Amino acid sequence: MDPNQPLGIFDSGLGGLTVASAIKHLLPNERIIYVGDTAHLPYGDKSAASIVHYSEKITDFLLRKNCKTILVACNTASARAYSQLAGHVGNKATLIDVIEPVVNFVVQKYPSSKIGVIGTKNTIDSNTYPYGIKEKIPSAEVVSMAAPLLVPMIEEGFIYDDISNAIIRSYLSGETFRGIKVLILGCTHYPIIKNQIRKFFDFNVEVIDSAAIVARYVKDKLESQNLLSGKRNNAEDMFYVSDYTDYFGKVGQMFFDDKINLTKIDLWK
Ligand code: DGL
Repeated sequence: MDPNQPLGIFDSGLGGLTVASAIKHLLPNERIIYVGDTAHLPYGDKSAASIVHYSEKITDFLLRKNCKTILVACNTASARAYSQLAGHVGNKATLIDVIEPVVNFVVQKYPSSKIGVIGTKNTIDSNTYPYGIKEKIPSAEVVSMAAPLLVPMIEEGFIYDDISNAIIRSYLSGETFRGIKVLILGCTHYPIIKNQIRKFFDFNVEVIDSAAIVARYVKDKLESQNLLSGKRNNAEDMFYVSDYTDYFGKVGQMFFDDKINLTKIDLWK
């Protein structure tokens, strides 16, 4: 493996760009190859078998692009497909998910707080966050809830208005989350509404999103493997999608700070 090889990142769609953007800021010398599986979005309520199948196809594409590391920038694929994918990738690249770095961060920083988690139905039903936290702190109190409307709400641009406030309130105001000190945003779309969620809790709850935490984890991992790119090579970052419409182009800008061009690929022939 060589530090100049690109870093592969994929998500069910464009939410993973929040993580890609954090990586770009922290590691500007890395060349990114991103894949958003917009043809199959959302993964939140697909079967585990489908998510594994899609993730393997995308991973094969990223391996063909010679990626040294592949980041599963989707909580749903991390929850439902990570162990099969790890077997599939073997030692051809380093595979990183978005859940483990967040679990490590939270148990270190908030070992005795009541912790809430929101995510897609698949992520929440898999219990990956509570299991991961309780494996490290068996007495931890972890409560979780699926919030399936948040992904389409964000994609449709309902971010700072009555609709988004009503949906956020309806998920977070019940008994489940009473007394939490920390809320994990277990979906790579949710950093877009982080401030509204902090505001909902009157800024009394630590709201944790994966973007910056995962970017730091990726940096440490590359460093420990001597795979951190020391200088920027001339090849461009690439952002691929499995289905393209102008709508995806607009949504892409919302999730990534810089302007990006989406390139359509056909992974499914
Ligand atoms: N970005 C995905 C995640 O982090 C959510 C979107 C979807 O349901 O595909 O779970």
